[in-house]
Amino acid sequence: MHLAVIGLSHRTAPVEIRERLSIPEQTMEDSLQQLRADEQVLEASILSTCNRLEIYTLLRNPDLGVTAVGSFLSRHSGLGVEELSPHLFTYHHEDAVGHLLRVAAGLDSLVLGEGQILSQVKKMVRLGQEHRSVGPILNRLMNQAVSTGKRVRTETNLGTGAVSISSAAVELAQLKLGQARGLDQLISLEDEQVAVVGAGRMARLLLQHLGAKGCRGVVLLNRTLARAEAMAADFPALPVQCRPIDDLDHCLSTCSLVFTSTAAEDPIIDAARLEPLNRRSSLMLIDIGVPRNIAADVSRLSGVQRYDVDDLQEVVNRNQEARREMAQEAESLLAEEARLFLEWWDGLEAVPVLNKLRRQLDDIREAELQKALSRMGPDFSVRERKVVEALSKGIINKILHPPITNLRAPQSRQQRHQAMRALAELFDLQDLADEA
Ligand SMILES: NC(=O)c1ccc[n+]([C@@H]2O[C@H](COP(=O)([O-])OP(=O)(O)OC[C@H]3O[C@@H](n4cnc5c(N)ncnc54)[C@H](OP(=O)(O)O)[C@@H]3O)[C@@H](O)[C@H]2O)c1
Repeated sequence: MHLAVIGLSHRTAPVEIRERLSIPEQTMEDSLQQLRADEQVLEASILSTCNRLEIYTLLRNPDLGVTAVGSFLSRHSGLGVEELSPHLFTYHHEDAVGHLLRVAAGLDSLVLGEGQILSQVKKMVRLGQEHRSVGPILNRLMNQAVSTGKRVRTETNLGTGAVSISSAAVELAQLKLGQARGLDQLISLEDEQVAVVGAGRMARLLLQHLGAKGCRGVVLLNRTLARAEAMAADFPALPVQCRPIDDLDHCLSTCSLVFTSTAAEDPIIDAARLEPLNRRSSLMLIDIGVPRNIAADVSRLSGVQRYDVDDLQEVVNRNQEARREMAQEAESLLAEEARLFLEWWDGLEAVPVLNKLRRQLDDIREAELQKALSRMGPDFSVRERKVVEALSKGIINKILHPPITNLRAPQSRQQRHQAMRALAELFDLQDLADEA
């Protein structure tokens, strides 16, 4: 059995490649089933976010398994293996464990320490369990990742400060509007006519940060108007005007700054939509959707500035130094959590020999119990039979307890192999003695 992660992220692939691989929740079951249908894939779970698509998997054979996952990614994205490979990373065993723990802690995020990634890791755990694509190994690893993410946020300073893709998007608007006025600094948004398209998690964070950065009011457009209205009610200090998404053209004509954060799979704004509108002289569009909500062709229109998640790097770089220092605090905690998982994994090596020993002792117990019961004859009541049976099981469990504890305890591989071999030889578990 071999643990690996194969995937891509904002570090290895631009948004135009990442959006081809994004897997929405509605099609996650089908993707997990496709992966599990390959005989090389014993367990699988998928982390799909705006910045990454990662497949954590337990493989029968590392080379054949990684190739199988690569073929799945190529089929799913419609990109040829040669086109996709330069953007993919593969980590094996302890490196895969370390990677997931870093991801869950927010240390691999574009905005260091952002909190949304932990909910996305939790969602991966939930979907893997719901669709039965994970077994004991990935379950253990994913749960360890979730608890590591929680520990990093409660035990280090990295969890402080409400940083997110949305806060970076608002900062990008402030920076770009400042640069347009010849200033290299973040400026207040008080003069902007602002709209937010979408009323999900990211839109909520956008409203939070817009309110904090001087914005005087926001038009909030959503497909489901009631959801926008419910969200607006949570921001009593910020005037929020809710509109159905059908009012988008009107909004694009009247607003100067529009954020898009919908989970639509195709662009909802493109050049053909903007061209006929009687717009203001300048329109800034900031798109944090992945797949992108705004087509790249709008950039050719005069007065239109378009930015997507990859453009957030510019603001992120400006204030990352302090967070990088905070991230250092998390490193020893991550190392400790990785060690705990790897010790547990190493202990699994002993499971086949222990299972065989248990079966062998159980066969002896059962045979001896039947002999004893037949000697007792019919006078022995059902209750007495049960007591004797429980006694025999209790003795076996007591005998097995020390070897189970000792073989699964943290120790070097060599020590464990020696102990397994000795046990297999002494109890005549021959085929397993050879493997150990
Ligand atoms: N969550 C994150 O950490 C994160 C970070 C960065 C970027 N993003 C990206 O930001 C986007 C939104 O994420 P989220 O977490 O806020 O999603 P979410 O909470 O699931 O909300 C989804 C929003 O998209 C709208 N929507 C879905 N399909 C649509 C369609 N076909 N046309 C128009 N509107 C549609 C929904 O409208 P209804 O209310 O009508 O359903 C809702 O307002 C996604 O593209 C995601 O990849 C997310």
